[in-house]
Amino acid sequence: MALLSIITAPDPRLKIISTPVDDVNGEIRKLIADMYETMYFAPGIGLAAIQVGVQKRLLVLDIIGKGDKDNDPQPLAIINPEITWASDNDACYEEGCLSVPEHYADVVRPAEIKLNYLDVDGKKQKLHADGLLATCLQHEIDHLDGILFVDHISALKRNMILRKLLKQKKMAS
Ligand code: NI
Repeated sequence: MALLSIITAPDPRLKIISTPVDDVNGEIRKLIADMYETMYFAPGIGLAAIQVGVQKRLLVLDIIGKGDKDNDPQPLAIINPEITWASDNDACYEEGCLSVPEHYADVVRPAEIKLNYLDVDGKKQKLHADGLLATCLQHEIDHLDGILFVDHISALKRNMILRKLLKQKKMAS
């Protein structure tokens, strides 16, 4: 396994629309293993392939995480996700993102979703998610379409965050 470097905003690669995985093979499973390692190390609760520069429709998440001593980790790898239903009622969570480090904002999304996807064995799966899992899935699926959580907040707040990140990048380079 290997730690992958995470792309941070603003970066044009984070706006790319990722393409479906056509074969869930050893190369994809290796990528998923590396993405888990990268996510747990960061640490974060979700990571989409495009965040490590791979333009494929896959993501990993674990809303429990390895740091929680009272609960077992719940790693979940989702390939080619399709949201088939979203609830009318919404939920609001304070979201963050490994590609938008150290910035957080309240985002409103459907409270529940249903999803079709492929698992690591390439088998079709269905999932009915609510709570934090539903929010996290929608956040990660957004990445596959080039959307960041800051695209769901006011332009004023978004631009403020992106300007700060750009300034940090310039200072670091
Ligand atoms: Ni994110």
